[in-house]
Amino acid sequence: MTTAQPCSVGIVGAGNMGGSLLQGLLDAGVDPQRLTAVDQVADILAPLAARGVVTGSDLSLACEDRDVVIIGVKPQSAAGVLGALAPHLKADQLIVSIMAGVTTDHIAQMLGADQPVVRVMPQTLVRLQAGATAVASGRHTTPQQVSMVVDLFSRVGSSVEVSEGLLDAVTGLSGSGPAYVYTIIEALADGGVKAGLPRDTALQLAAQTVAGAGRMVLETGEHPATLRDQVTSPGGTTIAGLSELEAGRVRHALIRAVEAATQRAQELGRVDDSRAKGAS
Ligand SMILES: NC(=O)c1ccc[n+]([C@@H]2O[C@H](COP(=O)([O-])OP(=O)(O)OC[C@H]3O[C@@H](n4cnc5c(N)ncnc54)[C@H](OP(=O)(O)O)[C@@H]3O)[C@@H](O)[C@H]2O)c1
Repeated sequence: MTTAQPCSVGIVGAGNMGGSLLQGLLDAGVDPQRLTAVDQVADILAPLAARGVVTGSDLSLACEDRDVVIIGVKPQSAAGVLGALAPHLKADQLIVSIMAGVTTDHIAQMLGADQPVVRVMPQTLVRLQAGATAVASGRHTTPQQVSMVVDLFSRVGSSVEVSEGLLDAVTGLSGSGPAYVYTIIEALADGGVKAGLPRDTALQLAAQTVAGAGRMVLETGEHPATLRDQVTSPGGTTIAGLSELEAGRVRHALIRAVEAATQRAQELGRVDDSRAKGAS
């Protein structure tokens, strides 16, 4: 873990996603005085203020003395927020959008300026410093600014750079992915219950198995197929279970899930785009 402080951050919209990010950064040791949270809901700000974060409801506060301004509101609030924010931004102040489906070009258009813009697809898992985040640069951004954002999100999990054209695929995989994994955990636990385990024991075993297997892939760098072969003995229990997964086409279903969610992200992006064109 990096010990130096990351860039200073102002967030507009400290709800589920923005609030999770702030709590994750605080738990990762980021100085609260380097963080500003602006939201119109006072109850959301109170626990952040209690931890020393600069808080308020005035949009301009998010820009004061901050390297980056994160836009954490819903896409439908983007035009109003960006239009009101624009006069308060310094020319080199970086806008980081976590809004799903809103392109960097559309954001620049709503700002009405050549502001540098980076788009990010995070997960609420950042609250536990266990998020998988993808970062995409827009026009007018420098490689240093993109690195600064990758570094920020690496404090709360892993963070990779992708081209903006791949963000819909990221949404289909890691954006929607936690919901797939929750379904898998629930189903594994149901299997345990069917085999006679108490419900809470089954859930704990299932969740820890998924968490541990994920760590094993990340920390060993081994291909999952290699790790699977290592725990599958000839004629044993695991191959009997795997054979049922193949019969149920589980791998095909997961591939299709990512593909379908990616297509849906593309459709939603097109709706947003045509709204933007209608508004201009
Ligand atoms: N939740 C996720 O898992 C997730 C994952 C990746 C990306 N995202 C993206 O993150 C963004 C936020 O989603 P969310 O689930 O965190 O939504 P949310 O919980 O509704 O949070 C947004 C917050 O922004 C506030 N807000 C709206 N307009 C504002 C303004 N003009 N000034 C100050 N605060 C304002 C909202 O207040 P009100 O409630 O009063 O409107 C709300 O507290 C979305 O664009 C979404 O696409 C979310």
